[in-house]
Order: sequence, then structure tokens, then C-alpha cells
Amino acid sequence: IDLSPYNTFGIKALASKLVKVERVEDLQELAKKGELKIEDVLLMGGGSNMLLRNDVDGLVVLNEIPGIEKVDETSDEVFVKVGGGVVWHDFVMWAVGQNLGGVENLSLIPGSVGAAPMQNIGAYGVELKETFWKLEAVHRESGEIHTFNKEQCEFGYRSSVFKTSLRNQYVIARVYFRLQKSPHLNTSYGAIEAELKEMGEEPSVRTVSQAVINIRQSKLPNPKEIGNSGSFFKNPIVSKEFYEELKKQHPDVVAYPVKEGVKLAAGWLIDQAGWKGKTFGHYGVHKKQALVLVNYGGATGEEIYQLSEKIIEDIDSKYGVKLEREVNIIK
Ligand code: EPU
Repeated sequence: IDLSPYNTFGIKALASKLVKVERVEDLQELAKKGELKIEDVLLMGGGSNMLLRNDVDGLVVLNEIPGIEKVDETSDEVFVKVGGGVVWHDFVMWAVGQNLGGVENLSLIPGSVGAAPMQNIGAYGVELKETFWKLEAVHRESGEIHTFNKEQCEFGYRSSVFKTSLRNQYVIARVYFRLQKSPHLNTSYGAIEAELKEMGEEPSVRTVSQAVINIRQSKLPNPKEIGNSGSFFKNPIVSKEFYEELKKQHPDVVAYPVKEGVKLAAGWLIDQAGWKGKTFGHYGVHKKQALVLVNYGGATGEEIYQLSEKIIEDIDSKYGVKLEREVNIIK
């Protein structure tokens, strides 16, 4: 089976077997039969944050658990249960359609709802954790369903417990959100304000979502047209001292203060180092956003991986900053 339709990078990796799962019970059953073992199974949602370096030996399990359902409400919140297989943007459009706030800034992020908490997806000043309530996950060894609340997920910048100490242990089956009836809009990100002005619209759930869609479409390649996984690298966090030194040599370095120190715009570093728009046959660095690596068609996972190695080495030697990959590398 060719996995290229199932990963947004469009990498042609082969798998011997693929199962689509639409019911939580079926996941539990697979686990109980020992068929979700970590070594021989690749779990996929939207396939939007992975790079397949090689063919996959074992089974590929596609999480396609459907459903969006209101489960409760208070005077200012609606509690929603969403299947892990729902396309993330479809869920956002559902919320926007009901004028429920909290996820509009996360419009058009590729991938599935089940994958979203793994890396605490974020964009334009908002992270998933802000509307997250809890999730249900199937333990891959025992087949038991375990519930995780927000604290237990240990959310961080592009991170959660499912990427750290519980890596590969669980399949996220359902995610529960708390959406706002009187939306607290976040237009703090300069580009959103500018786009709203351009559109001639007042901020609302619908217009902020549309502004984000416009911004993303102007900068980020559509995976249906050009294979990619969004930001390939994380924005590195460095100490304040390191930043001050770097700024002496590169006065226009783009950075934001954060709790742990200073977050550097990796896109700026890669761009300044001359990589933006570089093309090597059928793959390269996106022309409009240096953080995104692209497959123009026919690239192998290994080629893209090697390109990312070269970028990491180059940024280290030019700026003394070690970039980390944001995309999960499969084998
Ligand atoms: N920049 C450049 N050259 C580039 C790219 C960026 O100079 O090629 C500079 C820009 O001028 C800007 C700064 O870097 O001042 C930041 O760029 P941008 O606003 O595009 O955001 P980013 O830091 O590159 C992050 C997320 C994106 C998210 C945007 C908007 C990460 C790793 N990436 O990108 O997330 O959409 O902010 O919030 O945190 C993703 O995770 O896949 C993703 C696309």
C-alpha cells in the first residue's frame, strides 16, 4: 500500500497492511489482541506532522473515529466531544458556524483532532490547551481507556506528555473542548489586525477565522498542491544572555520574550542563512516561509531528512543555535 495519500508531505512510502478504525471499541480490541504493539505499528491521523523516512514494515492504523457532539453547557461555555478522526479544520468550521469561540485562530491547521493535543497545536497567539478540557485515549498495551485532564497532558510549546514520557503509549480516541458562548477574541497577533483592517471587518469568531485563513493561504503551501508538514522546525528558546550576544551581531534578529527566556523565529534564521526558496530538484525550502520544507513531487523522506540535517548544521555554525525538528521523524 502506498502511503502517499495519507501523509501531507506526499512521501511515497510503502506499508504491507493498513486498517482504518472508526470505533473506539475496535481500537481496544486491536490492543487486546496485541496488534497495537509499539514496535510494529504506525498510528496515523491526518499524517500532517510526520516524515516517513522509510517504508513501514508493520501495520498502519488510521484513526478515523468520527463525531462532533455537544455534551453539556453552562451560561458561558459549551462542552463538546470530538472524535479523534475528525479533520481539525472541520471541527473549527463547526465551532465557527455556531459562533462558539476558542479555536478560530487555529483555522486551517492540517491534521486530525486526535493528533492536535499531541503537540498542543498553536497559531496566531492561541494554543489548543486554552480550550482543551480532557481526552480519552486507548492504552496500546492493555486496551484500557484512560482519561487525561489538562494538567495530566503536560502541555508545553508544541509538546505534551504524549510526545515526552508517554510517547507511543496511547492512541487518542476522543478530545473534549470547552468553547465560549461570548467569545474572548485574540487579535493580538499583528497580522490578524492588519488582515481584518484589509477585509474591512470588525473582529468576530467568523471574521478572525477568515483572517487566519487568508494569512495562512498567502504564506503556507496548501498540502493538496505542494507536499509539506507545516513548520518543519520549532522556534528555538534561548537564554536572555545568549539572545543579547546574538543581537549584537544580528541587530534585526526576530525574537519574542517567553517564560523560559527568548524564543527566536527559526524562519528568520533559516531565511537569513540563505535557504528560503532553495530548490533541489523535486524538494526544497518553501519560497514564502523558510520554516517549511516542501516536496514538489517524488521526493523521498530520506532526501527531505538530509536537507533538514544540512539546515540544522548550517544554523548551528552560523548562529550557534541548535534547531529541533517539530515534525515527527518515522524511523
Ligand atoms: N520570518 C522570516 N523569514 C521567513 C519566515 C519568517 O524572516 O521565511 C520572520 C517573519 O518576518 C516574522 C517571524 O519570522 O517576523 C515569524 O514568522 P511567522 O509569523 O510566519 O511565524 P513563525 O514563527 O515562522 C509560527 C508557528 C506556525 C504558526 C505561526 C503563526 C512554530 C514552529 N511555527 O511560525 O505554526 O502558524 O507561528 O502563529 O511555532 C506549524 O506549527 O506547522 C505552523 C505553521
